[in-house]
Amino acid sequence: MKLQTHRAFNFNAGPSALPISVLEKAQAQLIDFRGTGMSVMELSHRSIAYEEVHNQAISSLKELLSIPDTYEVLFLQGGASLQFSMIPMNFLQIGKKAGYVMTGSWSEKAFSEAKLFGDVYHAASTKEGNYSRIPNIDDVQYHTGDAYLHLTSNNTIFGTQWKDFPETGDVPLIADMSSDILSKPIDVSKFALIYAGAQKNLGPSGVTVVIIRKDLLEQANTNIPTMLKYSTHAKNNSLYNTPPTFGIYMLGEVLNWAREIGGLTSIAEQNDKKAKLIYDVIDVSNGFYSGHAEPDSRSFMNITFTLKTKDLEKKFLEQAKQEGFIGVNGHRSIGGCRVSAYNAVPFEACKAFSEFMIQFQKDHN
Ligand SMILES: Cc1ncc(COP(=O)(O)O)c(C=O)c1O
Repeated sequence: MKLQTHRAFNFNAGPSALPISVLEKAQAQLIDFRGTGMSVMELSHRSIAYEEVHNQAISSLKELLSIPDTYEVLFLQGGASLQFSMIPMNFLQIGKKAGYVMTGSWSEKAFSEAKLFGDVYHAASTKEGNYSRIPNIDDVQYHTGDAYLHLTSNNTIFGTQWKDFPETGDVPLIADMSSDILSKPIDVSKFALIYAGAQKNLGPSGVTVVIIRKDLLEQANTNIPTMLKYSTHAKNNSLYNTPPTFGIYMLGEVLNWAREIGGLTSIAEQNDKKAKLIYDVIDVSNGFYSGHAEPDSRSFMNITFTLKTKDLEKKFLEQAKQEGFIGVNGHRSIGGCRVSAYNAVPFEACKAFSEFMIQFQKDHN
């Protein structure tokens, strides 16, 4: 049976759109994966067939992100949210401090968790302007000898994104890249640890990717539960316990797709074009639509905006839904509108939405 050709214009913030070719391949392999007579979900995680899937996903990620050999790639569970706790548990040593750059709700959550473990401070914050921008790199304060500096590379809820990152020297830089990993090339060597829940650009929910510099593993606290130590997973190639095997298989297939469509440079070009379609409509709308993010902090993944009045906004969201645009409501904590244009959201979907925005303005001006 072939997948139905009806595909929604899916602008969900995560879990979000997956490439159709990946879904079709998963469907074709579902019952009998590579002649095993089983689906990937039914394979033992200790089998050769599964280990191939697992190791292939790790090497594809290393290749696509040009991850140096001095890093480990881990597949964990518990979402990006568990990383908010694992990071301080492992790396916030007694007598040291960690700085957190506050750029939105996810930074706040990461900060609150870290506070439970030790001495943390705001290295910078843009809360005063309702998180409408990323701080200037020069305004980020941290101290030599700090355990680490933490930031959120893309703020899924407020729609802002870092364009450059601070050079932190000996202070390990840690980034939550949940909502922009794989959207553009990055210099992994600037970071000591990168983490991301898979459910935006990488695959389905259930897998959390951690890219960690090996020397950091050696400096970690030891008095923490086995499952919450990065070193446990690093020593065991993320096979200490049963990993989320189907999610990792899907992640591997998403990475194959990313490679086939030209890798991160061409993905980034495409993402720029997609986001521009919508930002351009906002910019020429004479205030009919107003973008939440300051232009130089705009996210190319999550485009956030409001309309002139709450009534009009309500009507806009209702009409968008009727016309098949899914997930355009802003996050429940801040309202407004949000278009999440992750890697697998086709250009045509953004084009159709930008045309809808233009037409809606014409009809309501
Ligand atoms: C930037 C960011 N960090 C963390 C999270 C939380 O991720 P999870 O639901 O995987 O715990 C999200 C979820 O949307 C996010 O966008």
